[in-house]
Amino acid sequence: MTLIPLCLPDSITPEQFLSEYWQKKPLLIKQGLPQLIGMFEPDDMLGLALEEDASARLLTQAASKQEGLPQWQLKKSPLAEADFDNLPEQWTVLVQNLEQWSPELGQLWQAFDFIPQWQRDDIMVSYAPKGGSVGKHYDDYDVFLAQGFGSRRWQLGKFCDKATEFVADEPIRLFDDMGEIIFDEILEAGDVLYVPPKLSHFGVAQDDCLTFSFGCRRPNLMQIIDSLADIATNDSDLFIPMLLPQSMQASGELQVDSIEAIKNQLLQMLQSERGDDIIRQAVSEVVSKRQYDALVPEETLDTDDLMQALNDGATLQADYSNRLLYRQTNDGITLYANGQRLDGLDDKATAVLMRLANGEHLQSPDVMDIDPDELSEWLENGWVWIDFAE
Ligand code: SIN
Ligand code: CO
Repeated sequence: MTLIPLCLPDSITPEQFLSEYWQKKPLLIKQGLPQLIGMFEPDDMLGLALEEDASARLLTQAASKQEGLPQWQLKKSPLAEADFDNLPEQWTVLVQNLEQWSPELGQLWQAFDFIPQWQRDDIMVSYAPKGGSVGKHYDDYDVFLAQGFGSRRWQLGKFCDKATEFVADEPIRLFDDMGEIIFDEILEAGDVLYVPPKLSHFGVAQDDCLTFSFGCRRPNLMQIIDSLADIATNDSDLFIPMLLPQSMQASGELQVDSIEAIKNQLLQMLQSERGDDIIRQAVSEVVSKRQYDALVPEETLDTDDLMQALNDGATLQADYSNRLLYRQTNDGITLYANGQRLDGLDDKATAVLMRLANGEHLQSPDVMDIDPDELSEWLENGWVWIDFAE
């Protein structure tokens, strides 16, 4: 059972990181994730990019920009070996959602346990030969860029905003001017760079190079509104026509006052206890949804083998390609997995799933009160992962 230390410099506490750096300024964490060293080689990732179910992109860059032609080309998965024939000198292949292919890699999310699980998105890898990059750009999310193999030069520039203009007619968001360069360093395997949202960045492979992006996410209001509507559909009271005050008005007009009255009733409902219930449920469902479809597991463990493995010292851990989280409610704890509320769990099962959601590694004595078939089901659902390693 390997416990992974937090990915922060010794001199910075998680509280300090969250108040001083998170969403505000970049941070270099030298050897923040040494576990990545030797974990994968470029060929492993090239192989993965060719898998039928992989979410991969191949980005190629022409040596120079020709009038009227894009300089970059993007090919999305499924990728075939032929796509890698006759590549220009500079190219990058990106593969998303690596946790589903390697739960061991997914476990490295524990190094970022100061970020709640529901704000973690996925691990993406980029492979590029010397000179490869994805151009100068910014992202809307926080990312920890972890060097896994070889080295990459990272430059950081200005913070961007909605007005930042991208190069026209390219298949990816890029710009030419990063403003004043505030950081310019070469990251070696094991080093990690935290980049806040909207900070321009540019990473160029110095040699055969694997960079792992531990990307974060937050819901947008549209997702919440969408989910609110879904949940509200089950509330028959909301289908009753509203009572509205009436004043004399031209029969052809829809008055602003009428719209205001409807808006006020909507806001009142949202601010009532019923509204709280709907909003809490909507937010829980949205943030516990997985971003990628589940891949069909290659093999499952039957209940007897699972119990045997636990007796032999295996550990149960959250599987970070799935979302398992909980929230306090008036009735106690409610658990969610992959966008769904888990109903019908008894107190013991709830307590064990909470510990797993919090990143604890559990062993046989911790789960002895749980029905083996139920444990087996959790494994099959992908909520938990079994680590056979000593
Ligand atoms: C890369 O790994 O090359 C790109 C990652 C990023 O810029 O977010
Ligand atoms: Co980026």
